Amino acid sequence: MIAIGSDHGGYALKVHVIKYLQEKGLEYKDYGCFDTSSVDYPDFALPVAEAVASGEAEKGIIICGTGIGVSIVANKVKGVRAALCSDCFSAQATREHNDSNVLTFGERVLGPGLALKIVDIWLNTPFSQDSRHIRRIDKISAVEEKYFK
Ligand code: RB5
Repeated sequence: MIAIGSDHGGYALKVHVIKYLQEKGLEYKDYGCFDTSSVDYPDFALPVAEAVASGEAEKGIIICGTGIGVSIVANKVKGVRAALCSDCFSAQATREHNDSNVLTFGERVLGPGLALKIVDIWLNTPFSQDSRHIRRIDKISAVEEKYFK
């Protein structure tokens, strides 16, 4: 299952992404928001990040105006590796290198065509399993252990 969420600044683009997920027959759960009324992005980024951290969701996608606020929130949840991507190269590299489990981007930054291409690449690129990348991700977990009590 893919957890998806946005604030008002990412709502319209989230609708496009959900349409893409539906067309691909991918299971998803929408954690809101559900219209363009002004809301606070942490309230919608957190449940998506928690769904990924708990294993309820395999991956998460969170969209706000810039992608930055939701990325900051998601990366404060232990076990989440959120990647803010505005280009296809980063979307591929973050899966291969970081095994990112949450994708974020900004509706005020990306057009829908590029956003869907990024989603497609990110969802379909496997982690490399390279030992150097595993070692580095283990070091991220060590940072979490030190600071995320
Ligand atoms: C909302 O105006 C905007 O601040 C939010 O969508 C996001 O860009 C924050 O990082």
